[in-house]
Amino acid sequence: MNICLNDRIFEILSEVVTAEDVKAFVIGGWVRDCILSREHPEKDIDIVIIGNGIETARKTARKIDPKIRVSIFKNFGTAMFRWNDYDIEFVGARKESYRRGSRKPVVEGGTLEDDQKRRDFTINALAISLNKETYGEFLDPFNGIDDLKNKIIRTPLDPVRTFSDDPLRMMRAIRFAAQLNFTIEKNTFDSISENAERIRIVSPERITTELNKIIISDHPSMGFIMLEKSGLLSIIFPELDKLKGVDKKEGKAHKDNFHHSVKVLDNISKRTDNQWLRWAALLHDIAKPVTKKYTPETGWSFHGHEYIGSKMIPDIFRKLKLPLNEKMKYVQKLVELHLRPIVLSQEEVTDSAVRRLLFDAGDDIDDLMLLCEADITSKNEEKKTRHLENFKYVRKKLREIEEKDALRNFQPPVDGSEIISTFGIKPGKEVGIIKNAIRDAILDGVIPNEKKAARKIMIKKGKEIGLTPLKHPRSS
Ligand code: CTP
Repeated sequence: MNICLNDRIFEILSEVVTAEDVKAFVIGGWVRDCILSREHPEKDIDIVIIGNGIETARKTARKIDPKIRVSIFKNFGTAMFRWNDYDIEFVGARKESYRRGSRKPVVEGGTLEDDQKRRDFTINALAISLNKETYGEFLDPFNGIDDLKNKIIRTPLDPVRTFSDDPLRMMRAIRFAAQLNFTIEKNTFDSISENAERIRIVSPERITTELNKIIISDHPSMGFIMLEKSGLLSIIFPELDKLKGVDKKEGKAHKDNFHHSVKVLDNISKRTDNQWLRWAALLHDIAKPVTKKYTPETGWSFHGHEYIGSKMIPDIFRKLKLPLNEKMKYVQKLVELHLRPIVLSQEEVTDSAVRRLLFDAGDDIDDLMLLCEADITSKNEEKKTRHLENFKYVRKKLREIEEKDALRNFQPPVDGSEIISTFGIKPGKEVGIIKNAIRDAILDGVIPNEKKAARKIMIKKGKEIGLTPLKHPRSS
């Protein structure tokens, strides 16, 4: 028995296709992941039918449960339905290009091998028979099983042909390599380099789906290094590509910020699956090229790169069609704050500086600390240990202050409406001035984070700026 067909759904499929006398095969990701014993988050099953995929989908669904709704995509000759956790897609084998995502209809039917040839990689072109007489037999004309064993990504046909059918496959090759820790066969990789320009015809949404899969893979740096080497990165993500390279002046060089950034991404990926924290790691130094300066006295500097970097993020997110919502703001915030704990650890760690950091980072403080720890990419072990020790101390101070002052989600003990009613004023800049004075007094440890003390500061500051508290304040 073929272990890839252990699920009950395959028995049902086998019964239907055998009774209907149509040849059917499981193909693609299901087979690949089964051989790799890889858990896949989605249970997608791709079935190739030698004949009419839509008809077979309808009949199978009817047999399983007449209430199942089958979605039909006539133009592509495909149909799919959901059953239990499975998404089962049926396609008629075709001779012409595999054109998923293209508007051009596929018309010409073909043999299984015709269909396998038209797929992206040998490891995705493996098929298993579902018909009773040959149930469980592998059909592997391009030695996909060997490539799986040898961890190789290779196109079944001449890569130029495979990539011209769908240029997104160039990114898919790199994405699979990063996910599976595979190598891209030389001829296939060379063809990506030669055809990189063709990625321009692919929609940003499809490109970003692959980028995100690389980011959340186990070896994200590998993916980005291949994107850079192949020339794809400069087209799809020029801001990141510009980080590469080392400048030298008067014998002083700075580090290669591209390799540093992807190393930070790898470091953080060992500690978190949070996709947006991984994005923050990748983008934390994104403004280094635009802020780079050399002065003979101090050498290379990237002054303000954390602030400029956070301002660059909306534009990058817009171009990549990433969400322009609180996820983006989270990435901006981490980029903007990424130097703060370092500065803190280099100077004397005062309570006031720790309070301010806690106040600015809020609930994201733990993620920020992870980012800072991942940012240490020095090869000098002694230096690395020193930095980590410093961060340990910052974390300890953060915990102490947090317990004492509960600043993580700071809500001022006196709010704007209380200031307005106390002085009988209209909303305006005075309210902001008083609010800031209260906040600063708390953060600097002048007063505790409490109402009574905060009211005293309110009155004091109000008087300083020429306000007089009402004898009988209007209730707010
Ligand atoms: N396919 C292809 N060319 C593409 C996209 C898909 O040849 N541009 C084929 C491959 O045979 C692939 C199958 O269609 O295995 C299913 O595609 P998809 O669901 O996108 O990918 P999976 O291989 O299942 O992998 P994943 O779910 O990780 O994306």
